[in-house]
Amino acid sequence: MEFLKDLGLKKNMPGVSTGTRWTTHKNGKKSTICSPIDGQVIAHVQQAEPEDYEHVIETAQKAFAVWRSMPAPQRGSILRKIGDRFRACKGPLGSLITCETGKPIQEGLGEVQEFIDICDFSAGQSRMLYGMTTVSERPNHRLFEQYHPLGIIGIITAFNFPLAVWGWNAMIGAVCGDVCVWKPSSRTPVTAIAAQKIIAGVLEENSLPEGIFSLLAGGRDTIGERLLNDRRVPLISFTGSVAAGRHAATSVASRLGRSILELGGNNAIIITEHADLSLAIPAVVFGAVGTAGQRCTTTRRLIVHQSLFATVTKLLIRAYKSIQVGNPMSATSHMGPLIDRAAVKSYLRALAAIEKQGGTILYGGKVLEGQAYGTSRCYVQPTLAEVENHFPIVQEETFAPILYLIRYRGDVARALALQNQVSQGLSSAIFTTDYRQAELFLSVVGSDCGIANINIGTSGAEIGGAFGGEKDTGGGRESGSDAWKAYMRRQTVTGNSGSGLPLAQGIKFDIP
Ligand code: UN1
Repeated sequence: MEFLKDLGLKKNMPGVSTGTRWTTHKNGKKSTICSPIDGQVIAHVQQAEPEDYEHVIETAQKAFAVWRSMPAPQRGSILRKIGDRFRACKGPLGSLITCETGKPIQEGLGEVQEFIDICDFSAGQSRMLYGMTTVSERPNHRLFEQYHPLGIIGIITAFNFPLAVWGWNAMIGAVCGDVCVWKPSSRTPVTAIAAQKIIAGVLEENSLPEGIFSLLAGGRDTIGERLLNDRRVPLISFTGSVAAGRHAATSVASRLGRSILELGGNNAIIITEHADLSLAIPAVVFGAVGTAGQRCTTTRRLIVHQSLFATVTKLLIRAYKSIQVGNPMSATSHMGPLIDRAAVKSYLRALAAIEKQGGTILYGGKVLEGQAYGTSRCYVQPTLAEVENHFPIVQEETFAPILYLIRYRGDVARALALQNQVSQGLSSAIFTTDYRQAELFLSVVGSDCGIANINIGTSGAEIGGAFGGEKDTGGGRESGSDAWKAYMRRQTVTGNSGSGLPLAQGIKFDIP
């Protein structure tokens, strides 16, 4: 694991930092992080304690007083420098992400690129924190909006994108003048430590105070719950399952805090009778197999017109046979292991449920064992199953490479109804060369998801758009477009430069 040295990482590391300073305890609890690739120990990470939490939040409060007053373009230039540092260590950091999550090296590198892109985006955004100006109904009055920083943002991230999702939140939050406290997934704290070390150099060189970017690697009870219930943290950005998100949202709401939720998806691709299959098949395979089916944007359901069902099934089985499952560090592997044994168990549970509920496994369905698959026992076959949309198991998000094939008859409205008949609403796609079908999919009666794609798959969104979904996905938007507005407080200003005091709505109130 040469990349650990390149990133300045050691075997034993503290998991708490306020920027450049790290906190260690003599007898603190340690968490051992093993690679899902082969079970090898990556590092032992000391876990945050309640007193670390207090220290981090107090330091962040002090930093906010400084950071919010720095002109936004100056903050943007810091973020540009952070992006440059990540550019310089894209290789080793991509390898670490692959080692810690098991995603193929192409995807590990892609994730670092996603982080670099959001730094560039934030640097640009730093000159565009626009408020709108409108006309007043009163003479000599001016009406406009401005945006101010919010304060401390608590960022709780998942294992599957251990760097990029933090980037969407932390870089956008920082350009808005907020300070960020990060609780990474307890399965991927090493990537978080590496990221924190990379930005520490920029903070130091620019003589910035401690507390702008902080890290608290620790458990749900010690750190997660504290963040959710802390009135000093006005905004929580939470990425995870629907169940965990529901708990996070209700905790934050009960103290009238704000939350941005990025919860589960149950994303479908519709293949109509007018689809170009030379585009559709590779898009479906990448969507279903990429990151071993562990993206929130993973393609889980394929809704295929009856006339193409047999052909699509045949082409997919052929493609799945060519998928190389193996060590994700190798450039020829399409798919690495699942994150851990618990994920393998939930894959097996889903397979049993498919058969019990009347579905058929068309391809795959096995745990892969043997020398090529290390000792972690986390490798599984990508799986195709024919099912019906209403099966309870199909209604759930199983974080594994299982693709459900569902047939539809009649017109595309039938496919749309099936697509929308789930509780989640993150990403969706249609493959068609028919303009009318595409427009129907995008129309008010079309896809009910936050992301709707034409002739591309459900995953792999660019950072420039707002990312997020509807219904049980939680309604949050992160990353590009105007997602930055959720990280600021909006202020409506009305100014009077006249010599009278006219009231709005024409109300008369004369004092003698
Ligand atoms: C996630 O799975 O939590 O659109 C995020 C995508 C990636 C991000 C996925 N850019 O698939």
